[in-house]
Amino acid sequence: MLALHPARVEDAEAYLAFFAGLIATADTMLPTPQEYQSRTAAEIASTFSRFAEQDNQLFLLAWQDGQLAGFITVTGGMARKNRGCGHIVAGVGAAFRRQGVARALFAAAEDWARKAGFWRLELTVMAHNEAARQLYLAAGFTVEGCKRAALCWDDRVVDEFLMGKVLLQAPLPA
Ligand SMILES: CC(C)(COP(=O)(O)OP(=O)(O)OC[C@H]1O[C@@H](n2cnc3c(N)ncnc32)[C@H](O)[C@@H]1OP(=O)(O)O)[C@@H](O)C(=O)NCCC(=O)NCCS
Repeated sequence: MLALHPARVEDAEAYLAFFAGLIATADTMLPTPQEYQSRTAAEIASTFSRFAEQDNQLFLLAWQDGQLAGFITVTGGMARKNRGCGHIVAGVGAAFRRQGVARALFAAAEDWARKAGFWRLELTVMAHNEAARQLYLAAGFTVEGCKRAALCWDDRVVDEFLMGKVLLQAPLPA
């Protein structure tokens, strides 16, 4: 059974192992395994606490039959003018993909964001990450632009798409 819960300090060890596994098998997340290997459960716990303290930040974990399967974060801006514009990052473990975990995380995050008064959600996705782009399109995001050569590592240069979803009901500026 799939259960979604905000990350708690006591989830830090499980998340540390989960995320290390995720980036070991997917080059589509930002940190490399080498960069992540020095992270500690204490640092993760303090990140979870910081998210929990802010009313415009969400760190949501998906548990499948007691195993950590995926996560989504929504980070609103620090200023009044961008506090309701949320940047999203998400990932699902290789063993749990194509089972609707990300779809459930996005639905819950959008529901939370609407209740928290957000007016926009946005994210970036590497141009070759077809699975994620399809997921975001299915969740109602549209491609708003391409950041040429946004990322570069190990002799690779990768474009990123900027995608967004406006939650406002009011008419948008022309
Ligand atoms: C992208 C990712 C989050 C999708 O998670 P998931 O739990 O497998 O996705 P879901 O099962 O909820 O799929 C929802 C929809 O997304 C799309 N989708 C997901 N995986 C796909 C794939 N491999 N190919 C094409 N479309 C895909 C489909 O539209 C799918 O709906 P459908 O199953 O009815 O066709 C997951 O593959 C992942 O974590 N990848 C590695 C990390 C990553 O790239 N994160 C995103 C960084 S921007």
